[in-house]
Amino acid sequence: MLLRNCWYMAGWQSDFASTTPTSRTIAGEALVFYRRSNGELVVMEDRCSHRFAPLSRGRVEGDDIRCMYHGLKFGPDGVCNHIPQQSYVSNRIRVRTFPIIERHGAAWIWLGETNKAQSEHVPHFAGPSNYEWSMVPDQIELQANYALLNDNLLDLSHVAFVHRESFGAGDEASATEFSRAEVTTTSLANGGVRVERRMRNATVPPYVRDYLETKRADFYVKSEHLIPGIFLLNTRCYPLGTFDQGEEALSCATPFLAEFSCQAVTPINERATRYFFALGPWSALGDLKQFYLDIGRRAFAEDRAMLEAQQEVIDRSPNARFANLTMDKASAAFRAQMNKLIREEGALHASYEPG
Ligand code: FES
Ligand SMILES: [Fe+2]
Repeated sequence: MLLRNCWYMAGWQSDFASTTPTSRTIAGEALVFYRRSNGELVVMEDRCSHRFAPLSRGRVEGDDIRCMYHGLKFGPDGVCNHIPQQSYVSNRIRVRTFPIIERHGAAWIWLGETNKAQSEHVPHFAGPSNYEWSMVPDQIELQANYALLNDNLLDLSHVAFVHRESFGAGDEASATEFSRAEVTTTSLANGGVRVERRMRNATVPPYVRDYLETKRADFYVKSEHLIPGIFLLNTRCYPLGTFDQGEEALSCATPFLAEFSCQAVTPINERATRYFFALGPWSALGDLKQFYLDIGRRAFAEDRAMLEAQQEVIDRSPNARFANLTMDKASAAFRAQMNKLIREEGALHASYEPG
């Protein structure tokens, strides 16, 4: 069972071309996206009400979309307004439409009860359109349940093992420092979870050593994971000794490296997930967009390989249960929140657990 009363990230704004319909499945719902003549994004079920041809094979005509099987035309409200073969058009011939909002360089869709869709609940996000950060948006598909990807992001100790060849760059010492770091987990009022890692006198991330003068730093990593799977990651490297001066000094200190990553986990269905990501440094550091895009692609392909393999094991062990350890605290808190929301939707039998 997948949560429906939430704002899912449907795509980056740039995913939706102005004249061609785009098909995309989100939480099991096959959808067609197109832009009307004023540029506004429209989303409706990808199924013509006549003989169920996909509207994504249709043609955009001004504000409308025409099914290219027998030519029925639908307005942005989903109501049929033209049937070439007859003059009478019943307004009962319609396809379902969904609320959609473009914000932070992304498009957000609400698949649940329409009267509960409130624009102020679109997740707080900073996307690639944010001028402070130098980022390029990208995405991949994983053949795995989306809860596994949320788990992965909520426990970054996997960086030392899964990402040895990308973020870890084969450096055993820094990998060990990262996985042993002091971790603080805080539940947020909006149902999200904050995870903070502090490493005193730590090795700077191996992949950025080429453009940093110093090799050791006080290293702070903060992530916030919001419902239904929004991940915002801040990484800072401060001069040695900054942490010893206390929290107040830390809030005023200027890091010599600051990086940000915005990501979104959107279920395609119970067994496939779309993973959106963008990452990069402070724009002031210069044009490192391609560098960060390349390393992000390499790293998230490493996650994909591990999660798809994990899903296969889960599929053949339907009665087995995970061993929950200290490192899973944030993941357990997030799973509990998701389960609560799914139960509140009335799906009492449902579970967020994959498998
Ligand atoms: S199936 Fe769409 S017009 Fe016939
Ligand atoms: Fe990862």
